[in-house]
Parts: sequence; C-alpha cells; structure tokens
Amino acid sequence: MERISTGIKGLDKMLEGGLIPGRTYLVKGGPGTGKTTLTIQFLTEGVKNGEDVLYVTLEESLKTLKEDMSKLGFNLDDPKFDAIDATPVTDKAHNIFAGTFYETFGKSFEKLTSAIQDKVKSKHYSRVAIDPLTMLKLTVKDELDYRTTFIGFLKSLSELGATVILTSDLKTSDVEEYLVSGVIELKTLEVNGRLLRGIMIRKFRGSSFDEQIRPYRITTGGIKVYNNENIFVE
Ligand SMILES: Nc1ncnc2c1ncn2[C@@H]1O[C@H](COP(=O)(O)OP(=O)(O)OP(=O)(O)O)[C@@H](O)[C@H]1O
Ligand SMILES: [Mg+2]
Repeated sequence: MERISTGIKGLDKMLEGGLIPGRTYLVKGGPGTGKTTLTIQFLTEGVKNGEDVLYVTLEESLKTLKEDMSKLGFNLDDPKFDAIDATPVTDKAHNIFAGTFYETFGKSFEKLTSAIQDKVKSKHYSRVAIDPLTMLKLTVKDELDYRTTFIGFLKSLSELGATVILTSDLKTSDVEEYLVSGVIELKTLEVNGRLLRGIMIRKFRGSSFDEQIRPYRITTGGIKVYNNENIFVE
C-alpha cells in the first residue's frame, strides 16, 4: 500500500512507512507539545516533493507562526505553501503570505469548509492541515449536533483527495478519535522535575503500527522521534 512521509523519519518508522494518503488524521496533545511543528513538518515535506499544500490556522497568527517556524528552519514563503488565516484577529497589514485567504472568524465548520473549497477551486492540494480544531468545537453546543457536523466535515475533507492532519488540544477529543482514520498523541510526563516527551500512535486504520510510546525532542530542525528507544522512568 502507498504511504506518504510525515517528514519525520522516526514517526514514519512507527507508522510502518508513513500515512495512508487521502485520509484524515488527528494529532492530539497538550499545550506546547509540538502539534504545530509536526503539522508544518508534514506540509513542508510535501513542498519539498513539489506538492501544493494548504495550512489553516485558527489560533496562532500566520505572522507569529512564520517567525517561530523560520527558527526551526521551515520556510513558509514558498509559493507551494498556501495558508488560510482563520484566527479571530487578522492583521492584514502585516500579512506577508502569498495567496493567503482572509477569514476573520473561524466560527463554524461550514464557513471553514467553504473557505477550503474556495481555495481548492484554484489548485489541488495533496496535503491539508487544520490547526487546531478546538475553536471550532467550542462553537457547537450540543454533542449530537457536533458529531453530525464533524462527520459532514470529514466527508467534505475526504472529497478533496488530500491527506489531512487535524490537531486538537482538547483533553477529551473522543468523538474525533472515533471518526478519523488515525490518531497520533504527543505526551509530556514530568519525572523528577524534568519534562519527558513521548509520542504514541493510538489508532491507524488499515495498518499495523508501533504500539510503544517513543521519546521525541523538539530540536532546531523540528521534531525528532527516537523510534528505537524507550522512555525510561526510574
Ligand atoms: N529550537 C528548539 N529547541 C527546543 N524546543 C523548541 C525549539 N523551538 C521550539 N521549541 C519548543 O516547541 C514547543 C512549541 O511547539 P508547537 O508550537 O509546535 O507546540 P503546539 O503543541 O502547537 O503548542 P500550542 O498548544 O501552544 O499550539 C515549545 O514548547 C517550544 O519551547
Ligand atoms: Mg500549535
């Protein structure tokens, strides 16, 4: 079966070659665990291969994101890297991203879906990322309503023919976990006053995978996964 690289070697090994293309995955983790970094690595890997990619940001402005990611060596100025700034406040004067679509409020899945569909009319994206879902979830009050809306949203994403990464910092993202094709979790453990980081695959439809939690680091080159090592807690 065809696989696509996440841009992180150790993670590809854990996934037995990479993600299955055309499906939607959830990257889950607490604040500062590296969800955005992983997402950008996944997208820039596509750019490296000559693919067009689309990034949708709902919390961090494109300006800040660009600054942070350039420190990690990721250049988001490439014309193959498109973005939708769906953060509540968009400072257009400082927005230097080519081809950026301005969406003032990331208030609803419908709005987001149509913003993505508008972009897709002009270009086919092989990789799409929405970071994070949290804001959208807060706009839906009722659980059943959310589930129905989310299923519709996933269906519209699958019609794009892209491999999609959604991120979530919600402690309880049960509904999403059931409905997506795979879940990657980034964890932080505090041991003897030290922060230990571990990455774990919770679910991967259509494939077996490394079931062990593996250590990872955020380095100047992005996330590095040590897929041959274990987390030792003494
Ligand atoms: N060069 C570096 N070396 C080590 N750690 C770094 C480096 N650059 C950034 N970090 C760490 O990466 C983390 C931020 O990663 P990222 O923004 O991808 O996380 P996130 O899960 O998206 O966070 P949030 O929940 O705030 O959106 C921070 O904890 C930061 O300290
Ligand atoms: Mg983030």
